[in-house]
Amino acid sequence: MTSFDVDPRPKYLRYLVGAIPKFLRRPPTQIRNDTGLASHSSSVFTESLRVTAKEVNACLDDLLPLPEGPERRVAEAMRYSALDGGKRLRPFLVSASADLFDVPRPYSLRVGAAVEMIHCYSLVHDDLPAMDDDDLRRGRPTCHKAFDEATAILAGDALLTKAFAVLSDAASHPDGLIRCKLVAVLANAAGAEGMVGGQMLDLLAADADFDEQQTRRLQALKTGRMLAVSCQMGALLGQAEPDAMKDLDSYGVYLGAAFQIADDLLDLEASEADLGKATGKDEAAGKATFVSLHGPERARKVAKTLVDQAVAALDRFGERAESLRAAAVFTVSRRS
Ligand code: IPE
Ligand code: IPE
Ligand code: MG
Ligand code: MG
Ligand code: MG
Repeated sequence: MTSFDVDPRPKYLRYLVGAIPKFLRRPPTQIRNDTGLASHSSSVFTESLRVTAKEVNACLDDLLPLPEGPERRVAEAMRYSALDGGKRLRPFLVSASADLFDVPRPYSLRVGAAVEMIHCYSLVHDDLPAMDDDDLRRGRPTCHKAFDEATAILAGDALLTKAFAVLSDAASHPDGLIRCKLVAVLANAAGAEGMVGGQMLDLLAADADFDEQQTRRLQALKTGRMLAVSCQMGALLGQAEPDAMKDLDSYGVYLGAAFQIADDLLDLEASEADLGKATGKDEAAGKATFVSLHGPERARKVAKTLVDQAVAALDRFGERAESLRAAAVFTVSRRS
């Protein structure tokens, strides 16, 4: 079986299923109903997200030891920012994508932990006074509040660099070429042409009138790239064929766009207690979001359409991609 050939059903059955129109293949209630996920699908997803979070937390705990000596302070700040809280959606996407190709779990967990390190660094820096100036993150004081600004900057720097040290270690995958590809795609997604570039646009948008196209681009870079690359890295671990890789990437791009719109809606509508971070900040800071451009109702509709597009991109993977479909629905139905 090639890594592309992920469907365990006999070929004749797959051919027959392929002849059935797409909208008839899967009862929609298995995926979602008008109120979001069907309860079965939703609880299965919540449980697997919880299990992955637990496994990734253990992995991060191992990967972030506390050294002796006064430099220990930066390691404490790294652990503070990476270990407690967070949905761990990016590691989930790495593992769920890698699962499509039967990648051994220890590899996908380490790779997910590396992606999460970069995500946590981006949050530490995003919260700094020079950026969003936030005091609360994951229900606790932000890193610069719990430590100090300089330590928070260094903790972010160290989480970023540690991620690449983790990926380059043979424990992440025995094949050096695959490790090299993992490093390259993550560096591109996180850097000036990806997340950092999006954060730059986010800052510039406060003093400019971004239109819909510019706002879409901003969000695709600052949030979409890290979510999409998580799927791509799972596929790389599984040595997926180009078409499968492309579909997983499309899924990640749609999911990423929906995810940031949901974040913007939560900023407007959710409570600080539920989110574990300050709310109502985007409007106050004049951020360019779908909500500020079109209002919450239209933003919700756009997010739902993006989820449908994400789900449709998974067709080739059949039932094995059920957890990724549920993750897409969760993206917009989540309460935190
Ligand atoms: C928040 O990401 C920052 C954005 C990219 C919108 P998450 O909502 O995934 O934050 P955690 O990791 O669960 O705290
Ligand atoms: C942050 O976006 C995206 C990152 C790259 C960290 P936001 O500024 O909207 O994220 P929150 O709302 O503070 O989590
Ligand atoms: Mg921000
Ligand atoms: Mg912020
Ligand atoms: Mg936000």
